[in-house]
Amino acid sequence: MSIPDRARLLGRRVAGLVHSDCHPRPLKLTAAISAIAAAAALSVAAAVPAVAGTSAGTKTSTGTRTGLGIKAGTGTKAGTGAPLWLLAAQHGKYFGTALTLPNLSDPPLLNVADAQFDMVTPGNEMKWDTTEPANGTFNFGPGDQIVAYAHAHHMRVRGHNLVWQSQLPSWVSSLPLDQVKAAMEQHVTTEVSHYRGQVYSWDVVNEPLNGDGSFVGDVFYQAMGPSYIADALRTAHAADPRAKLYLNDYNIEGINAKSDAMYNLVKSLKEQGVPISGVGLESHFILGTVPSTMLANMRRFAALGVDVAVTELDDRIQLPATSADLAQQASDYATVVGDCLAVRRCVGVSQWGVGDADSWIPGFFTGYGAATMFDENYQPKPAFYATQQALRHQG
Ligand code: G3I
Repeated sequence: MSIPDRARLLGRRVAGLVHSDCHPRPLKLTAAISAIAAAAALSVAAAVPAVAGTSAGTKTSTGTRTGLGIKAGTGTKAGTGAPLWLLAAQHGKYFGTALTLPNLSDPPLLNVADAQFDMVTPGNEMKWDTTEPANGTFNFGPGDQIVAYAHAHHMRVRGHNLVWQSQLPSWVSSLPLDQVKAAMEQHVTTEVSHYRGQVYSWDVVNEPLNGDGSFVGDVFYQAMGPSYIADALRTAHAADPRAKLYLNDYNIEGINAKSDAMYNLVKSLKEQGVPISGVGLESHFILGTVPSTMLANMRRFAALGVDVAVTELDDRIQLPATSADLAQQASDYATVVGDCLAVRRCVGVSQWGVGDADSWIPGFFTGYGAATMFDENYQPKPAFYATQQALRHQG
């Protein structure tokens, strides 16, 4: 296929994504469409190797970028090729990352984030302990800064999260149980209303299930039983009817007792007409343990009429990481991305963090790290190239 043909095809796919998605945004994709059209019209093929070059050329030509961002140690992106977001966009999907407020003061991190990703999940800034530290006292400043950064860089936002037992201020867990429902509804309504029209999706309820498939017995469950989930979803939908609404959890990537329970929960919610758009598969993997049933699991959720997303991908390695470990990690990333590409309703993949230097893993799992596609100096690792290859060759 000629470069102009590729550009036109990409432009059509990208245009389809923009129109089918709920919120019109100042997206990278929007900038890409006009630039791609210009590139096709000018037949600048000679200067641009396949899609990779198209993106590099167009970003420069639109004045929105000066390059791919990953320059140190790899020259002028000769070794890095097309950015992940653009390769994913060819399949009508996004490629995202998590960003926290301290990350916004880290230029090497931001160079990579800005170059590679088109979806941002705030790592902590939209959680209850930040957004409503005291009953009825709301603080959206940190979340607003992440949203402003994302939109200024043509990235959309996955809101994370509204109802979760962790990072929950103690005033909520100490409420009399007959006041919890009103507090939850007020929290959801106020936060979703604040970000109405600004976030693409919400993780409305985060991690509601135990490993055996039972419900986590947090204050919401104690107060309302399982019905708190439907109530939170309905409340969020009322506050922003166009936002995609997700349940998000870990260890539900493959078929097991916990994902069976999530499947049954989503099935029941759909049967009741509860507004649920998708299921987030967090995907915090240990090296070499991507479940062989991940694809089948995604397909069964999609068959219920919901989207799926890989929301928090990383793949931790027992340190020090050997070259064999990094090769296995590359294979793991390619498997996950390939599974998403194989499922039309898998809307995208987000990594939890940008690089190994900002990953949550070393702080939570002693002796583990190296869990992302970029090393401690934000240089691409084998997992990055494997992801790129998977995005190029499938779908
Ligand atoms: O804000 C305080 C700061 O004031 C204090 O000085 C410092 C001392 O430890 O702690 C700071 O809070 C930390 C917070 O991150 C913000 O940096 C907490 O200790 C720490 O526990 C918290 O960790 C977050 C974790 O969720 C909490 O559950 C991680 O950054 C965040 O990446 C992680 O994200 C979760 C997703 O939301 C849900 N899925 C799993 C994922 C990884 O655990």
